[in-house]
Amino acid sequence: MTTDHLFPRDGSIRPRVVVSVTATADGRVTLNRAERLLDEGPNLRWRTAWPPDVDDLLAQRSAAIDERHHPTVVLEGSGTFVADDDGPLDLPDTSMAAEDLWTDFLPHRSPRWFAVVDGRGRVNWTHKGDAETSLLVIASRSTPLPYLAHLRREQIPYLLAGVHRVDLESVLTKIHRQLGADCLVSQAGGGLNGALLRAGLVDELHVITIPALVGGVGTPSIMDGLPLEPGSLPMQLRTINVKVGAHGTIWAHYEVARDRSRN
Ligand SMILES: NC(=O)c1ccc[n+]([C@@H]2O[C@H](COP(=O)([O-])OP(=O)(O)OC[C@H]3O[C@@H](n4cnc5c(N)ncnc54)[C@H](OP(=O)(O)O)[C@@H]3O)[C@@H](O)[C@H]2O)c1
Repeated sequence: MTTDHLFPRDGSIRPRVVVSVTATADGRVTLNRAERLLDEGPNLRWRTAWPPDVDDLLAQRSAAIDERHHPTVVLEGSGTFVADDDGPLDLPDTSMAAEDLWTDFLPHRSPRWFAVVDGRGRVNWTHKGDAETSLLVIASRSTPLPYLAHLRREQIPYLLAGVHRVDLESVLTKIHRQLGADCLVSQAGGGLNGALLRAGLVDELHVITIPALVGGVGTPSIMDGLPLEPGSLPMQLRTINVKVGAHGTIWAHYEVARDRSRN
């Protein structure tokens, strides 16, 4: 088997990053900033806009990604679980020293990982995964120490990367080296996907576009984060495949068209 499709083509040692999102025709990935699709009410309203062909295209996309890359890590951001203005969890101070907490914590191995960037220690985990897929928190040295101590007490694995916030490139390298992952699928919202884009870490994109509009300045979109630097070029994509469902939903599969000479 050729490994050419498994790694980014710029030669770096990290998993291939595939972004997989479902958006409306105006690129919005949710209804507004105040609600999260994990909650039943917003989820029902979001799905009301879905024509009957969406579920089949979602299943086809998932099967195509599995077949092409056999990904073992799914990535999410804290914005999927908590509101923008939620602060760190209120936890008792820890007696553990920072040096002891500032080491990666992998109390068990897992065939698959559900990795969540939570550098501010905001998500109160109620589900830690199962025999097939384990939760994995991604934190940094600025993550509150009581939160890291809490993860250890709860036997929730975590990886640390970055000083002031999570360093996405470093954590991808750790995910490759320590978890053996060759491909990671980001199912995050626009905040994390935009940060991956700006860090030059997106290799592939699958967008399922629903024929509906949400609108609204600041509504999370496929890629948010920092604006493009003045004078910079958009990231060019090569279209791999486009499929239109019987009711007009579109599944588009792109690859980032990297100019090897610039890397
Ligand atoms: N339709 C879809 O396919 C889809 C998929 C996922 C989510 N959603 C929806 O999208 C919304 C969430 O989107 P969002 O944009 O608010 O949240 P998000 O994508 O989760 O973005 C916030 C996350 O990105 C991290 N982040 C942001 N900038 C970073 C940087 N420069 N370096 C490192 N990490 C960085 C944050 O880290 P810290 O936590 O460390 O601050 C946080 O984990 C929710 O409503 C959710 O329901 C839709």
